[in-house]
Amino acid sequence: MSFPTNFPVRRFDAVIVGGGGAGLRAALELSKAGLNTVVLSKVFPTRSHTVAAQGGISASLGNVQEDRWDWHMYDTVKGSDWLGDQDAIEFMTRRAPDAVIELEHMGMPFDRVESGKIYQRPFGGHTAEHGKRAVERACAVADRTGHAMLHTLYQQNVRANTQFFVEWMALDLIRDENGDVIGVTAMEMETGDVYILHAKAVLFATGGAGRIYASSTNAFMNTGDGLGMAARAGIPLEDMEFWQFHPTGVAGAGVLITEGVRGEGGILLNSEGERFMERYAPTVKDLASRDVVSRAMAMEIHEGRGVGKNKDYVLLKLDHLGAEKIMEKLPGIREIAIQFAGVDPIKDPIPVVPTCHYMMGGIPTNYHGEVVAPQGSNPEAVVKGFYAAGECACASVHGANRLGTNSLLDLVVFGKAAGDSMIEFIKNYGELKPLPEDASAKTLARLNRLENQTNGEKVDDVRTELQRCVQSHAGVFRTDKVLQDGVERIREIAERVAKTEITDKSKVWNTARLEALELDNLIEVAQATLVSAEARKESRGAHASDDHPNRDDENWMKHTLYFAEGQRLTYKPVHTKPLSVEYIEPAKRVY
Ligand code: FUM
Repeated sequence: MSFPTNFPVRRFDAVIVGGGGAGLRAALELSKAGLNTVVLSKVFPTRSHTVAAQGGISASLGNVQEDRWDWHMYDTVKGSDWLGDQDAIEFMTRRAPDAVIELEHMGMPFDRVESGKIYQRPFGGHTAEHGKRAVERACAVADRTGHAMLHTLYQQNVRANTQFFVEWMALDLIRDENGDVIGVTAMEMETGDVYILHAKAVLFATGGAGRIYASSTNAFMNTGDGLGMAARAGIPLEDMEFWQFHPTGVAGAGVLITEGVRGEGGILLNSEGERFMERYAPTVKDLASRDVVSRAMAMEIHEGRGVGKNKDYVLLKLDHLGAEKIMEKLPGIREIAIQFAGVDPIKDPIPVVPTCHYMMGGIPTNYHGEVVAPQGSNPEAVVKGFYAAGECACASVHGANRLGTNSLLDLVVFGKAAGDSMIEFIKNYGELKPLPEDASAKTLARLNRLENQTNGEKVDDVRTELQRCVQSHAGVFRTDKVLQDGVERIREIAERVAKTEITDKSKVWNTARLEALELDNLIEVAQATLVSAEARKESRGAHASDDHPNRDDENWMKHTLYFAEGQRLTYKPVHTKPLSVEYIEPAKRVY
């Protein structure tokens, strides 16, 4: 295939990369404001990974028991192990009830409690009165909450006349000589044609990058495209050492079993039939924060109390909930257990292991969805024209560990905030800024390298190596040596990525070419992860080091910024000051 030196140009007010919850929520604001908005998506929008979110969206509606937004804020700060920015956390948790009611009014078919109000279930780390007892805060549509949300938002966008470029992949960010973002290059997957999408504002809502791990609940498309593009364009990546392992992935398959199972009363058992979480988290037991439960499971397995031939998983028991409740509240889980674990949970427990699930770090933003990066003496200068929301962004509300159901909330709150900010920005913009002469250059170089490479390694082989490396060097437990070796190994793998070859250029839908382009993004994320993790000499949230077992607030209560060029790290302070309430002082994190 040959590519023109200058790609054809299409012009918009706003380009949104990613058709999941955050992208659709932002697009809705922009389209309703009458702006010429396009959403680019590698898959049909209702197949975006938001569709896989199961257990709920958090909001202190108090439909079952008394609840308050400031309790939600406290839980989120504590869940983040005091690495979350308290201004952003206040912003999100305060807006949560309105955000959920807004979804309800858009037509999202929430389950109901007896009174007709939205059904809410308990979830890990969600408590009343600062940890006194578990509280029902997760607003749920059975175990298919993300599915319902995505379809609701898509339908609203169709109504608002949002344009969709379906099965398009964004390739590189375009910045002008001032560093302002003025568009992206993107490939139409079916034809392989590449365009410049020239815009006043660009939002990345590209989701997660869980595919850097060998075992992940993430879809195959979650290759960190937004992070790769941002890193190659000189934007730092924040807090990339923090990856969440969801306690209950199906052993051997990685498919998610919602925490909602434990919210409904399911319990974890070891090979001795013991409900071991009673020892690790005496107050809320199986509903402790995810990092705590995942580490407890890993300890049980490590100490020989795992189940199965290789003693390498534990059991999630829910038969005591009864067939009726399982069929009503957890029908999708039953299907998953039958299909992927070969057990019917109405009768038998599900074999589960901690599985990579969520990236707490990402492209640094403020709580308005504006991307921020150090510039001169300003550590958090706004990158004009560039916005990010959802899992690819780091606002940072999740800090070192995210609470379950705060991800769907993050999508709608920060999707809307980014949309609002973009509208303001575009209103005062004037004409599109001219494209730099070399707007196509970076992408062209990548494409031509792939076309001309001979005697290179297969993309599949190198990607598998990358995933094995991250899995074994950046897992639930880490040591200095394991991380140092991981940094070396991933650097060698990066050299191999730069020499991969597309062996089957004729494959339909350009699959081989697109997988090679995705690998460029995976390697950026993998390197950011290992380099950032190796540098952090403490244990905090999801980053647990055997060599530095304690949290060290004096030296490490700060965000990591990773720059791809030279693999340089800098740090910036945590925003400890909330918007209107008292600072939540660091404390020991017990559940
Ligand atoms: O367990 C779950 O249903 C996942 C929810 C989440 O990651 O927020």
